[in-house]
Amino acid sequence: MRVQNFVVFEGGDGSGTTTQLNLLRNRFEADLHLPRLYATFEPTDGPIGRLIRGALKREITLHPGTLARLFVADRNEHLYAPSGVLDRTAQGELVISDRYVLSSLVYQGITCGKALPWELNASFPFPEALFFFNIDPETACQRIEQRTVKEIYEYLDFQAQVQERYKVLLPWYEGEGVKVVMIDADKSLEEVAEAVWRELKNLPIVKTS
Ligand code: TYD
Repeated sequence: MRVQNFVVFEGGDGSGTTTQLNLLRNRFEADLHLPRLYATFEPTDGPIGRLIRGALKREITLHPGTLARLFVADRNEHLYAPSGVLDRTAQGELVISDRYVLSSLVYQGITCGKALPWELNASFPFPEALFFFNIDPETACQRIEQRTVKEIYEYLDFQAQVQERYKVLLPWYEGEGVKVVMIDADKSLEEVAEAVWRELKNLPIVKTS
């Protein structure tokens, strides 16, 4: 199943998805002709998401298989809880999520092996479109270096694997009927924002608003 009006941003750490989603939020708030945008993210800021972020920051230690299951439990709430992704898209809102299923298939595919995340994520619906923020892992790691707290996946060797696995999985997503948009995330913040908007404004929900 594919969820109309549901868009996801994916990419390695430091690829700028969070920054770009914030810019979009401002653009939608400023223009009343546009549909309502619900900008959201995974891991969420709910109780399970907070537990995950504790593990990412090394405040608690969890087995990789436990973390894989927590990402999925958090996603389940994100999608199916009242006022979650499915409720909102059904009510005609545009929902854009910073990360979704592909993050699990990529990241937990590296830490747990391919089979577990595939099995755990099999029943989640596909989004209407996926924007992939394509960045050179070295550039991404230079950006990450400036952060005060380094998370468990934020080092070059891991990010190079992340990039590789995304590239393998994107054609599969496309084959499932998801509109896959490649964004050159090495470019400046303004150029990336323009590229994102150029594509987003063609989505039926935005076009007809
Ligand atoms: P993110 O919120 O994008 O990073 P930041 O802390 O910089 O805002 O994502 C947190 C990390 O979680 C990121 O390294 C990717 C990872 N992640 C997974 O490993 N699996 C998942 O299913 C998701 C949603 C994220």
